[in-house]
Amino acid sequence: MPLLMIRHTVRRSLSTLPPLTAQHYDIKRGDYSKVNDVDIELFQSVLGDRVLTDPALVEPYNVDWMRIMRGQSKVVLRPKTTQEISKIMRHCNGRKLAVVPQGGNTGLVGGSVPVFDEIIISTSLMNNVLSLDETAGVLVCQSGCVLKDLDNYLSERNLMMPLDLGAKGSCQIGGNVSTNAGGLRLLRYGSLHGNVLGLEAVLASGEVINSLSTVRKDNTGYDIKQLFIGSEGTLGIVTAVSILTPVRPKSVNVALVCCDTFEQVQSVFVTGRKLLGEILSAVEFFDSSCYQLVKKHLSLSLPLSSHHQFYVLIETAGSNHSHDEEKLSLCLEELMSSNVIINGTIATDYTKMKNIWNCRELIAEAINKEGVTYKYDVSLPLKCMYELVDIMRERLKDKALCVLGYGHIGDGNLHFNAVGGSHSKELLDLIEPFIFEWTADRKGSISAEHGLGFKKANFINYSKTDETVSLMRRFKDLLDPKGILNPYKTLPRIH
Ligand code: FAD
Ligand code: MLT
Ligand code: ZN
Repeated sequence: MPLLMIRHTVRRSLSTLPPLTAQHYDIKRGDYSKVNDVDIELFQSVLGDRVLTDPALVEPYNVDWMRIMRGQSKVVLRPKTTQEISKIMRHCNGRKLAVVPQGGNTGLVGGSVPVFDEIIISTSLMNNVLSLDETAGVLVCQSGCVLKDLDNYLSERNLMMPLDLGAKGSCQIGGNVSTNAGGLRLLRYGSLHGNVLGLEAVLASGEVINSLSTVRKDNTGYDIKQLFIGSEGTLGIVTAVSILTPVRPKSVNVALVCCDTFEQVQSVFVTGRKLLGEILSAVEFFDSSCYQLVKKHLSLSLPLSSHHQFYVLIETAGSNHSHDEEKLSLCLEELMSSNVIINGTIATDYTKMKNIWNCRELIAEAINKEGVTYKYDVSLPLKCMYELVDIMRERLKDKALCVLGYGHIGDGNLHFNAVGGSHSKELLDLIEPFIFEWTADRKGSISAEHGLGFKKANFINYSKTDETVSLMRRFKDLLDPKGILNPYKTLPRIH
């Protein structure tokens, strides 16, 4: 069942190339072999012409979505089957050749691109649906299926993917699982640790671990699949995924409200949860700086005036349209009468809803167009969430072109971004490690949903104890003793 390959790719600026990661950061290449002609011949014997070595074709795979990281890989491998990946990995392990698994390359922490000359294994051609149990709502597919393609496929069967994110047109389910992506509806459907029923992965040795269960309940020993969820390609290459697919709601409504203080934003969330209960499916917020950039770079505009401090998007998803709409209207009335919001509007038709969602989902894209982005993704107690943005604004002053806060308020997840005109060590030093210390002091997480990748790996200790990191390292050594899978990522490089 090959999926229809309609691409709704996330646009990105294709201007100048970023600096080489190996030169920009103080980092030493690991003791890995270099790819030679014999290796290329072996790869060609397995993959035929699906081995890219032409520098012009390889280059896009070396650069990350934010255009901040640039590797120097000379070869991209494009397997179609698990067996092909197994053969490739067996060879790479024997030769001690480092590899980086790559899905849609939309990751935001530099995990999906090489640091030096690691071989890129792209899963883009592994895009088949393997089975769908419509009764149980369980989909099994190869890891290279694009999230939006899967959701389109399911929508024809009144089902949906349990996750959604702005990168849906490019990111792949294998990348989502490997980063444990959160996204816009985690509040309603929960994390991938709960939705993924099973997976298949190829270890560094080439051994295939088939844990592709399709049952909801399975208490037979250690739940090995959980180890691969969020492991960012450092423990194995995910080749197939079995995942729960909820019933697609018949009725979706979106409300947009504006507030002048972050206390009011919190009250919107509390009231929304209380009054909307089981139909609440998303609560997202963004500040006025985000709205300014979305207007400036993407010409989008909201159906409310643009001089407010905060915008909150509330989505409901249910089965009875008039009931859901009435509930949402009552919720807005309550918010207005208690002076929690300044203004609000409800969108019930697709175009209006899409427009409001675009203003939220495309913030990352608008920021990318403004300049060099310093992107952070933290979990914090709601009470002090926006305080971080205020403090950083004061701290960075005119060193940054702009400072923004947005995110998944319902999940306690803030995206703090600062934009600079160029790569600036001065700006970076003002942000790090301050932001991690501030977050750790409030018992938050320094990476709520994007992972650690290359950029955050050295800061893991702000969120994990020494003992936990040491256990992670032992798992890594067990599954990948030569350290060939996505080196320099996730685990700290300095001890
Ligand atoms: P890639 O970027 O290709 O890879 C990400 C990591 O996973 C890398 O370490 C890579 O080595 C590894 N990997 C990829 N595929 C495999 C595989 N098959 N086996 C093993 N390892 C693999 N993230 C969120 O959590 N929530 C959001 O709301 C969100 N919104 C986003 C919006 C935009 C516009 C963009 C650009 C990104 C957003 N992200 C978000 C980040 C990103 O989209 C997610 O992390 C996504 O899950 C990455 O999927 P990918 O296929 O692009 O993976
Ligand atoms: C989002 O929620 O928009 C994404 O996680 C991307 C980002 O943080 O910019
Ligand atoms: Zn996010």
